[in-house]
Amino acid sequence: MLCNRSLTTTPFKYLAALLGLVLCLGAPYAALAASASSSSSAKPALTKAQREGKKLAFARSKGNCLACHEIDDGDMPGTVGPKLSDVRQMIPKRSVLFKHIWDETQFNPRTPMPPFGKDLILSKKEINKIIDYLYTQ
Ligand code: HEC
Repeated sequence: MLCNRSLTTTPFKYLAALLGLVLCLGAPYAALAASASSSSSAKPALTKAQREGKKLAFARSKGNCLACHEIDDGDMPGTVGPKLSDVRQMIPKRSVLFKHIWDETQFNPRTPMPPFGKDLILSKKEINKIIDYLYTQ
């Protein structure tokens, strides 16, 4: 309706028509921008176990994985260890990933990464939740 308004002679109507024109032209772009931003940032919601895994991985009193690894949207990560953002590609086998978190010294005896499972820092259940979370990345 607004789009079909013809230009008239009085300045007020002219302005109204111009505004209408801008709105009509702008709307598709606004819709396009909105859909583009929502599709690029939208990730599926985490399940309960994955949310708990994220908490454990980020908690300083637990995994504190961010001290050494970049993960997801974690604040101020350390860079001592490799990025874990694409761990699904790096270590696609769940049992192998479990072993890394259980005791990284099996792979590298001189690693600075604490043996989370062996040293009872994390339980098997907690490690599994962290894996559930890491595999969403
Ligand atoms: C004190 C630093 C430190 C902390 C804390 C730490 N890591 Fe690591 N991690 C490393 C380093 C360094 C490596 C590189 C390999 C090595 O040293 O053996 C590594 C390697 C890994 C790997 C193997 C990657 C590969 O490609 O071989 C995984 C998986 C991993 N860490 C997961 C975790 C998780 C999950 C946590 C938290 C529960 C964690 N790390 C906490 C330092 C750390």
